[in-house]
Amino acid sequence: MVRDCIADTKFAGIPLKKGMTVTIPIYAIHRNPDFWDQPNAFMPDRFLDQNVFTKENRFRYLPFGGGVRVCLGQAFVMAEVVIMLAQIIPKLNIQDATEGDLKFETGATLRAKNGLFVRFSPI
Ligand code: HEM
Repeated sequence: MVRDCIADTKFAGIPLKKGMTVTIPIYAIHRNPDFWDQPNAFMPDRFLDQNVFTKENRFRYLPFGGGVRVCLGQAFVMAEVVIMLAQIIPKLNIQDATEGDLKFETGATLRAKNGLFVRFSPI
């Protein structure tokens, strides 16, 4: 997430000048060992509602941002993805087909640098 700094201020002791662009790295927040146990392990249950919608974790899990600029499509896309997966999962085997290590690059969104390949086959 990106914000323009509208006045001189400090954040966590770091001086920020008016006019600076501040990037809030959601990827890093989601992998911060101060917040998450084994942050690089694939443990999707850590993001279940009961684990993230707590007072303590409120702004540690930000797939849709947070605060006044929170994603307006959040409820829509969460309904959409459940409908889509309910259609796909009973019909297809899904396997990771990415060769080599997954590398990322940042732009407007975080992307897989060399693509993220998935092999679908009928069940
Ligand atoms: C998996 C899908 C999606 C993800 C991960 C996502 C994520 C985000 C995030 C992180 C932000 C906050 C950006 C910021 O604070 O700078 C945002 C904002 C926004 N999203 Fe999404 N989004 C998704 C899908 C959608 C969809 C489907 C719609 C519309 C139907 C939508 C509409 C918006 C709008 C309008 C904003 C700007 C809200 C504002 O600035 O007041 N998003 N989204």
